[in-house]
Amino acid sequence: MKKYGNIIGWGKFVPQKTLTNADFEEYLDTSDEWIYARTGIRERHIVDEGETTSQMATDAAREALKMADLRPQDLDLIIVATSSPDYVTPPISSQVQHALGAKKVAAFTVVTGCTGFIYALATAQQFIATGIYSRILVIGAELISRWIDYSDRSTCILFGDGAGAVVLEATEKPSGVLSFVLGSDGSKADLLILPGGGSKNPPSQEMLDNKLHYLKMNGREVFRFATRILGSALREAIRDAGLRAEDIDLFIPHQANKRIIDSAARQAGLPKEKVFLNIEKYGNTSAASIPIALCEALESGRANVGDTLAFVAFGAGLTWAAAVVKIIEREQQPRRGIWQLPIFRWFS
Ligand code: ACO
Repeated sequence: MKKYGNIIGWGKFVPQKTLTNADFEEYLDTSDEWIYARTGIRERHIVDEGETTSQMATDAAREALKMADLRPQDLDLIIVATSSPDYVTPPISSQVQHALGAKKVAAFTVVTGCTGFIYALATAQQFIATGIYSRILVIGAELISRWIDYSDRSTCILFGDGAGAVVLEATEKPSGVLSFVLGSDGSKADLLILPGGGSKNPPSQEMLDNKLHYLKMNGREVFRFATRILGSALREAIRDAGLRAEDIDLFIPHQANKRIIDSAARQAGLPKEKVFLNIEKYGNTSAASIPIALCEALESGRANVGDTLAFVAFGAGLTWAAAVVKIIEREQQPRRGIWQLPIFRWFS
């Protein structure tokens, strides 16, 4: 019997501090009008000193686990999608596993830029479909603000920080990831690149002087790529799920640019009313953008249990990804023996 990974819990974390378009107007040659018209962004949440990607990921995960009524050690696997981890090594997934207290639970990190959450979700679904694992935590977390050159008006206005998480649980009822499309075109790697700090340009004074530790982007070309690829990826995912555009209850895209989202929705035949947008408040939070949006859609009632959702994203690589996801009623709550009461948890 085929197994599916139904989404049974979700959570998010966004830093309190915000950076508005008016804040940029104070020191950059830009305006709220330009930024909003070209991107759909009004403000973004940015970490304070001391806040880290792993902390945001852990907070979002705790919320998702609480909703799923699961203990961290009930998990079989943790997958964290991020391109902005605390360290090059150790992997952030192990940091999150430890911070959650998910003793000895398998954990790994997916690094595919803004498409990371969909790549991670599709991967989690494979572990569940084979029957290897039953409960998987999937997190998208990014702290991009520390890799942004705040004097570069074409990139700094776009990005924000945050994290979102979901818990998948095996079921035999069709749910979770019904279909997915993943793709990559490394020939376009230079269009969105953080050149410094890796093995090619290791940390050095020269690297810092040349500002290679900041994200570089050819916005116009990335825009062209996204508007070419997203509509077809979305259509393919919907078709592979055996569905039509009208069967999709809500479209939750990567929140990179409202004009890119409008183009993808139009190409896939999805009307405006079915598009979920929160880019105005958060900007582009990369791999965190879809799980944060999913959380908000479910919390606000724009999406509901029983709905069929469509996700699409593009990002560094360049990569692209789309998925059709159905959330169904949970079959049964986990049965707790007396040894699982909070007082006994200390011993487990
Ligand atoms: N304020 C005012 N003017 C600006 C700003 C700004 N913040 N930024 C750029 N401009 C100027 C440019 O310098 C250019 O001026 P010029 O004509 O004198 O050379 C002019 O505006 C037009 O520039 P374009 O790049 O053509 O503007 P465009 O309409 O393409 O918008 C933007 C720029 C918003 C960056 C857009 O290209 C975009 O969103 N691209 C996609 C970027 C993206 O999504 N990246 C992330 C993907 S991966 C991930 O999510 C991690």
